[in-house]
Amino acid sequence: VRVAIVFGGRSSEHAVSCATAAGVMRAIDRDKYDVIPIGISRDGHWVLTDGDPSRLELTSGHTPEVGADSGAGVVVPMATTERTLTTLSPGSVPDVIGEVDVVFPLLHGPFGEDGTIQGMLELADIRYVGSGVFASAAGMDKHYMKVLFAGAGLPVGPYAVITDREWQRDPAAAMEAVGALKYPVFVKPARAGSSMGITKVETPGGLEAAIEFARQHDRKVIVEQGIAGREIECAVLQGRGVDGPRVSHVGEIAVQAGSGHEFYDFEAKYLDDGAVLSCPAEVPPAVSAEVQRLAGAAFESLGCEGLARVDCFYTDTGDVIINEINTMPGFTPRSMYSMMWEATGLSYPDLIDELIQLALT
Ligand code: DAL
Ligand code: MG
Repeated sequence: VRVAIVFGGRSSEHAVSCATAAGVMRAIDRDKYDVIPIGISRDGHWVLTDGDPSRLELTSGHTPEVGADSGAGVVVPMATTERTLTTLSPGSVPDVIGEVDVVFPLLHGPFGEDGTIQGMLELADIRYVGSGVFASAAGMDKHYMKVLFAGAGLPVGPYAVITDREWQRDPAAAMEAVGALKYPVFVKPARAGSSMGITKVETPGGLEAAIEFARQHDRKVIVEQGIAGREIECAVLQGRGVDGPRVSHVGEIAVQAGSGHEFYDFEAKYLDDGAVLSCPAEVPPAVSAEVQRLAGAAFESLGCEGLARVDCFYTDTGDVIINEINTMPGFTPRSMYSMMWEATGLSYPDLIDELIQLALT
């Protein structure tokens, strides 16, 4: 079976995607799958790479990047051989994509996790791992995902949205919508991931700068009321055949007190030991059952396929609410998504195999 692993991409989560691809390329069963590693540079060049995972790791000392030199053709500096494999203008796609059995779009964020590549693959009639166009687009947008969750009767926290037009027309009026929320609030780009562009704001005085910062990632901004509680997550896999979704044991993200992190930000996620991941989470059985129920229901409410990670809060008042869904969660062997399946009895190589098989059937 020929599998194209597509990684990098045009979003601010480019390096996270490279790390995810490294994990998958190390673990995928090479006897069963013929891997074609395709990188997308930050400016949208598609390049065949030699897929050397060691160049793709994300550490505090190394930020991987798919390189592109559009002048002399496309080079792939992360490839040990420095092969110049193909010359493409931004947006053009290697012919090889038409010759694969399935594409694994390991892309996070806009232009990859948001329905864009999924739409391209649909047009070309190529099978791919994960959610389709609509669920990907809805799951990328923290505003519309909440609208859909609430519409399905699932609990979400209080929030306000500031669109680009509202902000341009009258920032003060736009910020009035936030007045109903209790501080602290989290100001986020509506469509981004890995905590990019997010600020925790303690008082109204900090709001405007936080909105401007989020707008550097997306001109639609969401402001969420801070929830006092614990972050409990659950991994979801599409069921086989007509079965409903499968859910993992629930896991907990705990940001270490004294780590210097106000919340589970980019550094805590990827670069240091500021956060501790544990699975199964030590919560009452009724709470873990509720998180699992909500995770499956969230997956179904958007019409997801393949995989998703659903992030919930177990609040200090004893409720469970959904924070968000990620339709292409970070997916290295040490990522929460993989760890939760491992704890549930599905190893990382078997998980990769299962995802590809789900896409093929
Ligand atoms: N957006 C990152 C990759 C995650 O949710 O894991
Ligand atoms: Mg999250």
